[in-house]
Amino acid sequence: MTESTETSDVSQASAQASDGAPKVVQGLKDMADLVSLCKRRGFVFPSSEVYGGINACWDYGPLGIELKRNVKERWWRAMTDREDIEGIDAAILMHPRVWEASGHVAGFVDPLVDCKKCKSRFRADKIDAAALAAKKCPSCGGELTEPRQFNLMFKTFMGPVEEDAAIIYMRPETAQGIYVNFLNVQQSSRQKIPFGIAQIGKAFRNEITPGNFIFRTREFEQMEMQYFVKPGTDMEWFEKWKQMRIQWHLDNGIRKEKLRFHEHGPGELAHYARAAFDIEYEFPFGWQELEGIHNRTDFDLGRHQQYSGKKLEYFDEEAKERYVPYIVETSAGCDRTLLVALVDAYRFDGDRVWLALHPALAPYKVAVYPLMKKPELREYSEKVYASLKKHFRVTTDDAGSIGKRYRRQDEIGTPFGVTIDYDTLSNHTVTIRHRDSMVQERVSAESLVRYIEEKFESWGK
Ligand code: GAP
Repeated sequence: MTESTETSDVSQASAQASDGAPKVVQGLKDMADLVSLCKRRGFVFPSSEVYGGINACWDYGPLGIELKRNVKERWWRAMTDREDIEGIDAAILMHPRVWEASGHVAGFVDPLVDCKKCKSRFRADKIDAAALAAKKCPSCGGELTEPRQFNLMFKTFMGPVEEDAAIIYMRPETAQGIYVNFLNVQQSSRQKIPFGIAQIGKAFRNEITPGNFIFRTREFEQMEMQYFVKPGTDMEWFEKWKQMRIQWHLDNGIRKEKLRFHEHGPGELAHYARAAFDIEYEFPFGWQELEGIHNRTDFDLGRHQQYSGKKLEYFDEEAKERYVPYIVETSAGCDRTLLVALVDAYRFDGDRVWLALHPALAPYKVAVYPLMKKPELREYSEKVYASLKKHFRVTTDDAGSIGKRYRRQDEIGTPFGVTIDYDTLSNHTVTIRHRDSMVQERVSAESLVRYIEEKFESWGK
């Protein structure tokens, strides 16, 4: 509590059930509860819903897009506020040779099997080895086809003629746009190694088994940063970026016990990687990848040199040395980060549902309520709204009982509610309600902005 804040009337929220027993706060158990909340409150809608939807495509609604922008903004600031990282925004459509050089045309494939009876489709590497050997469908027991290699890149045609020469691909990762611009960025921004290039953008993969809401989709956004280093210093930088990236997720308020590293063993390592760790999150459907940190060596720049015939070397002026840099990559899914924020924030105490979102991620920071629809209360509350709006993203709500209004904001993760009542008119104090504890305090209207700012600062980064 700050000295300048007038406090009184601190009423500890009832954390008790009606029988007097303490309420047990639970996290998300069933993804269906989150999917339903997201639809009801305008975070995420099924794409093309009026036509029955389209598999594994989702649209972000008014609150979802605010949350997504907050995720991206936090990532962008964490990267490009550093002197050694520059940003770019490369085109989604790239020269088809890029995908030959990157290895995606030959190697970005999943083995696919179909059930001849129930028509279900599976990734052969994800089903039980005995079932695969017996060619037995895990769903219905029907006969499975032989595995076929299926390339995950979406193909389309450039120009009016649909012929093989006109085939181009929707990029399956944003990273390649960075590699082919390595020298453009380095020379135009006069960066010296080590330095990085950051990019946020859409990627497309024709996934065989998409699912779990927005966890695995066919169109998604990535937040990727490629850090160019001198060969020999790559493992040192790899370790640094591993730590910096997990810290970023912790700074977003994600619970420590729900995050872990998973090291790729020899069988899992991608063709380009010398070392790879995933940051995993424990979803209701198990531990799954959230972000990858990869030591890609000089594979990418080396291949683009080879396929383009252009040198992609760095010249170290001081050491008078020329070399192809090694790359340490950090690659996070934007939609997956957003999903983790929602899953991790979900709370239910048997009665109330709330999202304990970090304030920096919450779509609204404060909600302002006139206690009743009386002109004098509304007028005061409009003034409070206008003064807060200069500092935070604020909403207002005067429909229904104050309890119902609190609940609506709890469900969308608004950290603070400010209520204007008749005492406000006489003594210029308002009630501020805390989303997570439901504690209510009386604070002077004048000190409200400072009070909220200080609470946000003490929340963490
Ligand atoms: N450039 C390296 C790369 O793309 P990746 O492990 O294939 O690596 C990086 O993808 C991240 O992108 C993943 O950790 C995940 O967060 C996200 N991602 C990948 N495929 C996705 C999909 N189908 N739907 C949503 N996010 C996906």
